[in-house]
Amino acid sequence: MRRYVKAMSTAVVVAGLVVPAIAVSSPMYPKGKGNIAAGKQIFENGKGTVPACTACHSEDGMGNDDMGTPRIAGQYAVFLRKQLEDFATDKRKDNTMGVMNDNAKGLSPQDRTDVSTYLESIDPGAKGEMFFNGSNLEELTANGVEVGATHKGKSLVEWGQGNRQKPVAACRSCHGFNGRGAPPIYPRIGGQRYVYLVNQLKAWRDGTRNNDPMGQMQAIARNMSDEDIKNAAAYLTKASDYTKGNFYTPYD
Ligand code: HEC
Ligand code: HEC
Repeated sequence: MRRYVKAMSTAVVVAGLVVPAIAVSSPMYPKGKGNIAAGKQIFENGKGTVPACTACHSEDGMGNDDMGTPRIAGQYAVFLRKQLEDFATDKRKDNTMGVMNDNAKGLSPQDRTDVSTYLESIDPGAKGEMFFNGSNLEELTANGVEVGATHKGKSLVEWGQGNRQKPVAACRSCHGFNGRGAPPIYPRIGGQRYVYLVNQLKAWRDGTRNNDPMGQMQAIARNMSDEDIKNAAAYLTKASDYTKGNFYTPYD
């Protein structure tokens, strides 16, 4: 009997150690705290005067080059929430279709949190997949869009340019490896749509987008040529989250 009691208490101690070990594997950055089901409802059906997000950002939330809309699926919730807030307060203007300011105003603060939380929860690629579904560069070229050189873009993303009058900091230094993001401040730019990336970099450069903390992106884009912008966008749209042989990121 005593032996039995001892065995039982050992089991309890072991269980006591195991359970908290699982419970502490919480995310390393602040995840969205909204209601995922309510967010999904808004994404698929819209709300009140606001149309369904799928109408422009595509069914899977991966964006659309013909419309110039960004991929919003799998983006970090805190960043998405900030953009919706910036659109709602006109700190950021939708320079492409002129619709996002009204869309954001039509959602309540809770709706914005819910839809951002849902979008973050979408995993657009099977784990370990080398490439997420960025833009199809061959198709864009065939449609007359000028596409940059991916190898030059890779160099800019990884190392930047220091050896000339207009230095450009490596995108990686803020946006992480292959632009996979460094939440909550630095968004994912890897796997983003080509047309959207080019539009935003030009908007940062001419100051028509200026909602960046401390003007960080405007300072970078001002030193980028049209070529630099197209090259970086061409590389980033197909950039994988994963380094070779490693199917985990620091955020998994
Ligand atoms: C009628 C088309 C349209 C609809 C509907 C629409 N969007 Fe957009 N959205 C856009 C466009 C265009 C942009 C790019 C704005 C720009 O270039 O400045 C954009 C940008 C965004 C961004 C900024 C993303 C980033 O990476 O900075 C967010 C977030 C966003 N939309 C969320 C939503 C949500 C949530 C919904 C549904 C409630 C929605 N959109 C519905 C057209 C639309
Ligand atoms: C010093 C830090 C820093 C560096 C280096 C940097 N960025 Fe950024 N970038 C930011 C911040 C901060 C934001 C988010 C701005 C906001 O909150 O709207 C951002 C946003 C962006 C966006 C808009 C994303 C979206 O979904 O709307 C693009 C595109 C972008 N960066 C591209 C680049 C590229 C390309 C490079 C390298 C040439 C680069 N960035 C280097 C800080 C940086």
